[in-house]
Amino acid sequence: MLTPDTFFGGAPEVNASAPGRVNLLGEHTDYNDGFMLPVATPQRTLVAMSRSGDDHFHFYSPNLDASVTFARDGSAPQGFGSYIEGCIRLVQAEGIEVPPLRVYADTDLPVGSGLSSSAALEVATLRAMRALLGFELDDVKLARIAQRAEIEYARVNCGIMDQMASSLADETNMLFIDARTLEHRLAPLPRETELIVIDSGVARKLAASKYNERRAECEEGARKLGVKALRDVTDPASVESLPSPLRERARHVVQENLRVLEAAGGVSAERFGELMNASHFSLRDDYEVSIPELDALCDALRAAPGVLGARLTGAGFGGACVALCRKGSAQEAAASALAVYNGKGNQANGHGEQERQGRILVPVPTDRKDNNASV
Ligand code: GLA
Repeated sequence: MLTPDTFFGGAPEVNASAPGRVNLLGEHTDYNDGFMLPVATPQRTLVAMSRSGDDHFHFYSPNLDASVTFARDGSAPQGFGSYIEGCIRLVQAEGIEVPPLRVYADTDLPVGSGLSSSAALEVATLRAMRALLGFELDDVKLARIAQRAEIEYARVNCGIMDQMASSLADETNMLFIDARTLEHRLAPLPRETELIVIDSGVARKLAASKYNERRAECEEGARKLGVKALRDVTDPASVESLPSPLRERARHVVQENLRVLEAAGGVSAERFGELMNASHFSLRDDYEVSIPELDALCDALRAAPGVLGARLTGAGFGGACVALCRKGSAQEAAASALAVYNGKGNQANGHGEQERQGRILVPVPTDRKDNNASV
């Protein structure tokens, strides 16, 4: 495995970093022009960068112990290099001259757990380029370019939430985002609360195909209702006229937007927890993006002392759950939820005798916190 020192043959010219995100409310609303409330993760992706000094781009990931090299006019093979190359090519498309670069991308974000390690890589890469080359790029525009890199180069048809969160959120406030206007503002977490994030241990399998299917269903629902996007539905009851499953999909989106607006307006910790629970039930029953493991993990979290509400976070079909709990109770509640969740067989989901193995992602277990977080 290469260190930055061995990869650059000394110190890199610049270092930058960006966090992942945990969405607290507003799931599958971003591509419906709606609202959401993510926070940043304590885990971050670090990108160290220098001019390469030759005619090639050189990228290295210590997490994968993989390198990618390609000529100035070439392209990276599909993989971690696609995210970085996408950022470079889109900055060039803005008319900015970018020389061949050496890029070292290291992360302590879990990959595949739904905390948006890809958005963190894109945002950190763009921040490093901005620092190295000295061009102007505001944080919203940066998020838009990051999203385009993901869609056009990594070929993932995502919304704007993850990149906006990675670019603009922090760990102690929620970031309210309007996906249509990209208007955004920080809002404090409910008083005297803290978060737990637990990875279910189930990789997100059907996520890409089901995600695209849900997007198409939402677009069709909006078309049938005669609105530009489901965000524009003013009478929530109108979705009941749609045929199934468009009715259930639209009901989720419309109600989820209302939950975000209520929470962003400032509610008690108890009410916030109720809204998170309602969001999970709607994702499970109406949007159908949960799986038995995520339901079981959320149930275990809700039953733990001090927990006010729990839901799956991210696209679903695996990945992580987030819970809001009373300040000071996170560690104990997480341990108690894992004692219930871990070790049970999960035949229900067709995984045979395999045992469930969840793990705490936030609060970051002290033995896993590395030095990236301070960059
Ligand atoms: C993924 C996408 C986001 C968003 C969520 C669901 O994380 O990248 O744009 O759509 O799923 O809320």
